[in-house]
Amino acid sequence: MGDTLSGAERVKGFSESMIREMTRKAKKYDAINLSQGYPDYPTHESVLKKAKDSVDSQLNQYSITWGEEELREKIAGKLKDFNEVDYDAEFEITVTCGSSEAIMAAMLGLIEPKDEVLIFQPFYENYVPAVSLASGRPVFSTISEDQKIDREDVKEKVGDDTKVILVNTPHNPTGKVFTEKDIRFLRDICLDHDILAVTDEMYERMVYEGEHLSLASFEDMWDRTVSIGGFSKVYSITGWRVGYVAAPKDLMEPIRKVHDYTTVCAPTPFQHGAVEALNLPESYYENMLEYYRKARDFLYESLKKTEIEPFKPQGAYYMLANISEYGMNDKEFADRLVKEKRVAVVPGSSFYDEGGEDLVRFCFSQEMDLLEEAMSRLKV
Ligand SMILES: Cc1ncc(COP(=O)(O)O)c(C=O)c1O
Repeated sequence: MGDTLSGAERVKGFSESMIREMTRKAKKYDAINLSQGYPDYPTHESVLKKAKDSVDSQLNQYSITWGEEELREKIAGKLKDFNEVDYDAEFEITVTCGSSEAIMAAMLGLIEPKDEVLIFQPFYENYVPAVSLASGRPVFSTISEDQKIDREDVKEKVGDDTKVILVNTPHNPTGKVFTEKDIRFLRDICLDHDILAVTDEMYERMVYEGEHLSLASFEDMWDRTVSIGGFSKVYSITGWRVGYVAAPKDLMEPIRKVHDYTTVCAPTPFQHGAVEALNLPESYYENMLEYYRKARDFLYESLKKTEIEPFKPQGAYYMLANISEYGMNDKEFADRLVKEKRVAVVPGSSFYDEGGEDLVRFCFSQEMDLLEEAMSRLKV
């Protein structure tokens, strides 16, 4: 897209989210929805109670634009303990309406026309519209089916125009958990070419193999990294719309302006619920991980008994699978599956600039009996 296009013209160029479309189709055909990433793990009672109590005690008005102070302090503590990065809660952390807003605000605040943003594909579908609305140019580097980044390709794709590398680990939809070598490689690229990193760490607590590493914690990366996270998936509160962005003050200033003039603040009572989420003990995360690990292993083993070839994720709760044996493309396959078998999945091409027609994405954040029923419909 050229950099002289208006916002309205850019929006006209967007296609509708295929993920959300598959959810509508799942409803229409009364299908088991393995498309959109709704977490099935039950929201912790103490988190629910805190949000309800906050409503009852009249915490129903705008919060401070940057987020309730208590929540920013809690997030700063979590970032220090879990991510090993120090941020000043007053100036360097902003609570947003989900991490989706944080991604959009980061792009609108930091990107100039023609700036390039390196995105790994397959990608979370909000990235490209965010870069485009910010008048930037997305440039793509592909993660292979065996979950490797192509270092030579990354080196070729970055240059004088590259402003940002967007890193999502654990990665949706491949489930790749970026290794220390990957992160060190990306760090060197950022330092050599004076590039910023925007990291999307939504699934940081969902790691089955490997460990979660935050790029901002690596030497010399703190002052060039914008770290994004959210509460939606790990605490099963996607509808509460609470996420955050953390960045050094100079990078945060334009991001805060975008946030201020778009959403004003995240929902106040749910910010208090999020404070409680960050009080949960380690056993909460262990149990959640065990629950999703079982679902992952079941889906993987079940799909392997079919003509569908699954790729085992190391993190998050999605599984890509190759469907080329069926002799149809991803959209036809997903369409027939939802109508004929009443199981909804997402066509792979929705995660690619080009390609993905031989892939579909399953989301395994579903109760085991629903996963079992879905697999029996696939005649596993
Ligand atoms: C990688 C990734 N980032 C961000 C989001 C957005 O999450 P939210 O806006 O609910 O925080 C999602 C949702 O699916 C995601 O998969």
